[in-house]
Amino acid sequence: GGSVFSLWTCGVPFPGSISRVLYTFAVALQVVHPKTDEQRCRLQEACKDILLFKNLDQEQLSQVLDAMFERKVKPQEHVIDQGDDGDNFYVIERGLYDIVVAKDNQSRCVGRYDNHGSFGELALMYNTPRAATIVATTEGALWGLDRVTFRRIILKNNAKKRKTYELFIESVPLLKSLEASERMKIVDVIGEKVYQDGERIISQGDKADCFYIVESGEVKILIKSKTMTSKEANQEVEIARCHRGQYFGELALVTNKPRAASAYAVGEVKCLVMDVQAFERLLGPCMDIMKRNITHYEEQLVAMFGSSMDLLDPGN
Ligand code: CMP
Ligand code: CMP
Repeated sequence: GGSVFSLWTCGVPFPGSISRVLYTFAVALQVVHPKTDEQRCRLQEACKDILLFKNLDQEQLSQVLDAMFERKVKPQEHVIDQGDDGDNFYVIERGLYDIVVAKDNQSRCVGRYDNHGSFGELALMYNTPRAATIVATTEGALWGLDRVTFRRIILKNNAKKRKTYELFIESVPLLKSLEASERMKIVDVIGEKVYQDGERIISQGDKADCFYIVESGEVKILIKSKTMTSKEANQEVEIARCHRGQYFGELALVTNKPRAASAYAVGEVKCLVMDVQAFERLLGPCMDIMKRNITHYEEQLVAMFGSSMDLLDPGN
């Protein structure tokens, strides 16, 4: 659809002459791509788990959704080319997309988006050339957000996020070895999620796509052991608790396997959540610490169940 500029006046119509005056003085003009109800529904569904949108207030989110536009893509289409200037940020409605990074004259596929997630934020956030090429490998549907709206709303929100989370992120033991600037890049891409008492955060056996740091409250980790007798096998056994500053959900991302255990909120819980692409891009320096802790999981499972088979072959 075509884009119209509407004044930032909550949709109240103004006569032409007044509009022109207001237009001149309006500090922020808002991009609006009109959408049908059906499009709006699909857009809302595609955006509901987008981490960069999690910390927006309602007004900011509705401005973002108003500004988004639909883009259909064909197999082999390059949505983004590495080295280009950044024009849009994209949210995936459907389709598979390869992430290709060229370095030292070699192109390598470093990951893939599978029917959800988002990409294209880096060039817009940091005013840098596109850091990767994104190629659709199937037919797909995307929702784009223009650079100006992205910077006006998401960057402003990120400044607030940095203030809110800076001290906390500095206190997270796992992230101690990172430079201050690297920790800020983590803050830029995380989203906060809130869970109610008893709510399941991770399900054993599920495909994994994010990583969690506990900001407040308590998370319990439960496992259904395959090494127990069938009567016991359907029972979940508590194996760990995570508190403020601790992390979970890294194992499946590191091993590329389904979730090894389930995680539940104990009381109200707030987590900072990072997607797998950001995890791989930003937490490389912390990998040794995580791997060392994974050997502790194995020892713990051996002590409890006589085997750590669950970590090698999770699933239900
Ligand atoms: P941007 O640099 O604007 O355009 C390419 C996008 O690919 C980038 O933003 C990220 O959103 C995404 N991406 C995913 N994985 C990587 C990666 N390993 N390195 C760089 N960009 C990545
Ligand atoms: P993941 O497998 O992605 O999802 C479940 C998480 O539970 C797992 O990552 C770990 O972060 C966490 N966990 C804590 N203790 C254990 C353990 N002993 N074995 C497996 N996972 C554990």
